[in-house]
Amino acid sequence: AREAGREALRRLIIDVADFPEPGVVFKDITPLLADHDGLRSVVGGLASAGRRPDGTAAVTKVLGMEARGFILAAPVALELGAGFVPVRKAGKLPRETHAVSYDLEYGSATLEVHRDAVGPGDRVLLVDDVLATGGTARATCELAEACGAEVVGIAVLMDLSFLPWREALGGVEVTSLLTI
Ligand code: PRP
Repeated sequence: AREAGREALRRLIIDVADFPEPGVVFKDITPLLADHDGLRSVVGGLASAGRRPDGTAAVTKVLGMEARGFILAAPVALELGAGFVPVRKAGKLPRETHAVSYDLEYGSATLEVHRDAVGPGDRVLLVDDVLATGGTARATCELAEACGAEVVGIAVLMDLSFLPWREALGGVEVTSLLTI
């Protein structure tokens, strides 16, 4: 039944060759987001990563990474009875932030979170659509920790197993609904 569920999700993700640049196969999740049963199943699966064995919520906040992480993290937060916190690209948040920069293949990227968005006593779950190099998730862990919060885990719709995200994330618990 679980394999059938994963297969149903896979059918709702479209491979787009040579986007955004030649040689890259882009995973378009918009058909999955547009399918009520698919979206329901993904949000439920990701929320499970934030529950204790007895079903109660293990987290106080869910952090979503701009932009596709926002779409999944907010309903996961509602499902867990937790709050939603946006992790944004540089320059978008209006108040005092913590910022973490990390290397990309060409150049670097910076992510920010409001300093008061989470703090000591918060247990946080990170939610995003895809784990590739793990750079975005690693930077988000560092942001949560800079605020004094504890990272309980990372939950993603899919992980790209041919990329070294595991090495980037050390011992953090990772839940991935689909492995590519
Ligand atoms: C994508 C994706 C993840 C990240 C994964 O975001 O949504 O956040 O890359 O890659 P990594 O594991 O190598 O860091 P992108 O930067 O394309 O932003 P977007 O969601 O705003 O398109």
